[in-house]
Order: sequence, then structure tokens, then C-alpha cells
Amino acid sequence: MNVAWVHSLPRGTETGEYLTIDLGGTNLRICKVTLHGTSSSSPPSSKSSLDQEQYRISESLKTGTAEELWTYIAEKLADFLTTKGLDRQYTAQKPMPLGFTFSYPATQDRIDHAVLQTWTKGFDIKGVEGQDVAAQLREKIAQRKLPIDLICVVNDTVGALMASAYNDPDTIIGAIFGTGCNAAYMSSISSIKKLATRSSSSNDDTNPQKKDSTDAKMAINCEYGAFDNAHAVLPLTQYDTAIDAASPRPGEQAFEKLSAGLYLGEIFRLILVDLASQNLLFSTSTSPSPSSSSPKLQTPYVLDTGALSAIEDDASPDLSTARATLTSTLGVTATAQDAQAARAIAQMVATRGARLCACGVAAICGMESIERGHVAADGSVANKHPRFKKRWAGAMREVLGWGDRNVYGDGDESGEEDPIVITSAEDGSGVGCGIICAVEVERRRRVSGG
Ligand code: BGC
Repeated sequence: MNVAWVHSLPRGTETGEYLTIDLGGTNLRICKVTLHGTSSSSPPSSKSSLDQEQYRISESLKTGTAEELWTYIAEKLADFLTTKGLDRQYTAQKPMPLGFTFSYPATQDRIDHAVLQTWTKGFDIKGVEGQDVAAQLREKIAQRKLPIDLICVVNDTVGALMASAYNDPDTIIGAIFGTGCNAAYMSSISSIKKLATRSSSSNDDTNPQKKDSTDAKMAINCEYGAFDNAHAVLPLTQYDTAIDAASPRPGEQAFEKLSAGLYLGEIFRLILVDLASQNLLFSTSTSPSPSSSSPKLQTPYVLDTGALSAIEDDASPDLSTARATLTSTLGVTATAQDAQAARAIAQMVATRGARLCACGVAAICGMESIERGHVAADGSVANKHPRFKKRWAGAMREVLGWGDRNVYGDGDESGEEDPIVITSAEDGSGVGCGIICAVEVERRRRVSGG
């Protein structure tokens, strides 16, 4: 439960031009975000515009050093400024405000500071854990003399919450169901125990608990991917245990390893490998070498969530799509029976994931007594797995006791919407990060009396 130093949802009137970077699992995205606020004549959903570039993050960068990572990011920032002509528009005296979406667990003492607790989602870059990522990036920006001022470091869930609330005031939670899983919400400042510890241990003027009224709010980044790291609550299968043991950080992100997109395909693959090794699958193939020894089937993390949903979604009598997907992704020859079994397994793995994702959100709603609103969700699982949202909604009905509703059907019989529904988040790591940057720039201007 990390304090995110964002004190309010946006008013929707924020304006200005901001630079944002998003260090995602596959790409580094750099954006120029322009917020038009309500002055825009465009419809509410386009109260902002975006000019963006994506740069690939190589596998070697993901397991390299801090020096390599920040040098790469500063180099791409420099390219972006030049390509978009921003290097002529901004100067050292009037730098362009930068927001950094850093979607890893980080402890923040202020909004422009973030000490990485641990890498997640397969990243393993040396020299960053335990360090302030804002300071490390700032140093490289200074070395290159870029006209940029790093204003805020933002988690993707907090960005999703802000970007969505900018357009939809019913937004209560920002959630990511993607490579990783996590959610953020607005908490009452008075109930944040971490801030209470901070105020009793120092005469700290920056502690909002000292100066704000009892109903003041603060965004909390739950980091619930780390729930049950002690492995005390959730039942694990042998496949979950194997994934954890082979990961760069065994014992960490226990909840995420059961439910997030990075792992669903791998859980599925490990089950198939196990069944194939017992000759229960792919053993009747007539191919020259038994397909259970296919190198692709033996390759860790070869399957993404898209393949899983393609297998699950095949409702044809001979399961031709499922069989073709098994062949193209895993190199196995599957009979209709093999495909049937694979489909049932894909269903189980994805259903467990969706139900756990609902538990994370339901826990926030229970704790904060939230009874209605919109959960703005982003991420590959939420967006690309066609059955995820329905399963998630069904589990919410079950966990939150909306008992009269048809749990895995289409809501209640009258067709009435559930009190808490999942919506598609607006772009959190671009626009959301830009909005947070705008709010912080404005706050600083007020504090300095400018
Ligand atoms: C990270 C979170 C992030 C989530 C979704 C997790 O692995 O720890 O900070 O919000 O992935 O991207």
C-alpha cells in the first residue's frame, strides 16, 4: 500500500503541454500530452491530444545495468525533443515538465521521488532496487543538458485512475489487468497508517496528516500483486510453485504470479508439458517425432494471453482454431480430444485469474465502504481476453454478495447494471501522467505564490 502523493481527482479543467515517459514491459513510450480542459470544443473523450513514439526495450536492457537503462531513456528523450521541435520551444530556464510512469513498486516520500522496492514482471536491472529512480533519471537528463524538469513519478494504476476520472467522475478505482496486476484508489488521509508513523517519528512539515482536514484524500497504489508473499492464504498448484521458483525474484509478487497476463500462458504451458510427459496429451500424433518433445512446447514464456483466448474461444465442432493455435505456438500436433482438454485447461487458468483480479478490487471496495462506481481497467488481459470482464463481474457479484444477481450470467434479470462495474480506462501512462504533472505544476505555482 504505497502513498502516491496525488491529493485529488482531476477537475477536468487542467490544461497545458507535458512530456511523459512510460517504461512498460515491452516498450518505452514517450508522449507529448496536450490537455485542453473544458475549454476544448471537442467531445469529452478527446479533452486531450497525444503525439507519441515507441521505442523497443530489448531483453538485454531488461537484465542489464542502471547505467544502460537511464542512458537509453535519456537518449530517446533527446531524440523525441529534436524530432518534435520541442528542443527549440523549451530551454534550461523554461524547461518542459516531465511525468514518469514507472509501473513497479516504489516508495515515495514526495511525488518527484520513488525508491524502487523490487523489480517485477521479469525485469532484473542491476543497481536500481533501493534507489530513487527519479534521481537516477534526473542525473542523466542533466548530463545531456536536456530542457526537461522531472515533476512526478506515477504508477500506471494511479495514472489510469486520474485519466479516467478526467472524463468520467464516477471513476473510483484505476486498475491494471495486464502483464502485471494492481489497482489504485483515493483514501482518506486520516486513515493512512504509514503517514501516522511518519508524523510521530519527526517534526515533519510535509506530512499531510498534520495540515489537512479529516476528509482530505490521497491516492494509494495498492501493489496487491505482492499480496500473500508469505504464501499463507492462497492455495498454490505445483505449476504455480514451479513458476515462482524459476522467476528472477522467487517468493515475490505471489498474487500476480497467479493472475496476471505475464504468467497465464506459462501456467497453461506447464500443465500441458506435465500431461504430455505422462502421455495424456499429444501422444497419438502420427508425426515422425512425438510432438511432446517439441522445442516450442519446452520453451518458457512462449505463450501470451492472446493464444490462450484463441484456444478458449474456439467453439467449432472440430476445434480447428484451437488445434491450429496449439501447432503454431507450441509446435504440437493436437487431436480434437487434445484440443478439447487444452481448451478446458485454458478456461480454468483464465477463470482463476479473473476471479482473483476481482478479489483485489472487492477488497478495496470492502475496506473503503465503496458501494458504487466505475473501475477503470487497462492492460492486455482486460482488453484482449474477451471473457475476462464477464468473469470478473461474476466474481464481484459473488464476493460482494449481490446475491440476487445471476453470478456468471449477464447481470440481474431486470438488466440493471451492477453497482460497481468495470469500464475501459483512458490512457493512464500518457494522459493520466500528464494530468498528474499538470496538477503538481499548478500546486507548486500556488505554493511559490507564482
Ligand atoms: C507492479 C505494479 C504495476 C502492475 C501493473 C506490477 O508488477 O508491481 O506497480 O502497477 O504491475 O503494471
